Amino acid sequence: MARIILSDGKELSQLPEVQSRLARLGITLRHWPAPADPRARELMERKTLNDAEKEELLGFVQNRFEELKSEKGYRTRDMVVIHEDIPGLAEMLGKFDKIHTHADDEVRYILAGQGYFGFVEPGGAQFLLEVSAGDYINVPANAEHWFEMRGCTRCKAVRYFIDTSGWTPHYTGRNREFAEATV
Ligand SMILES: [Fe+2]
Repeated sequence: MARIILSDGKELSQLPEVQSRLARLGITLRHWPAPADPRARELMERKTLNDAEKEELLGFVQNRFEELKSEKGYRTRDMVVIHEDIPGLAEMLGKFDKIHTHADDEVRYILAGQGYFGFVEPGGAQFLLEVSAGDYINVPANAEHWFEMRGCTRCKAVRYFIDTSGWTPHYTGRNREFAEATV
């Protein structure tokens, strides 16, 4: 369940207060329980998934994709599996751990593990959002944010796209208030 960590160390963990803090930035957070099917659970618990297994797991949450297609016009989805032994992991994560924006929404549905988004509020204050299994998040285009693992090693998430070219990060040059944590 999502949790906000403020720069003074205070935390927000009740879903309505987390949602309203995010809504100020145009960010949507929903709690969509991860699939309970035993086969889905088995796949979610694995460290790695091949392409066929990713597609099989995506099939368990196809109803979410259908909902997003009709509601928001998303056209494609894939699954990202992060684990500690991915070659070039630090380089891959390093593209997104600096404050950036995208031309398209960044839409993620976390199925297993966890990760951290950082956000910049209109007054310049920053906070972290811990996301874990069952969290669906839509970060709107042009919202300043970053993503990092902060010492967690594994995360499986569905990514939804209108246009995959919108995935390119545009760095804003703003410095982070939260110290970087190594993976
Ligand atoms: Fe991003």
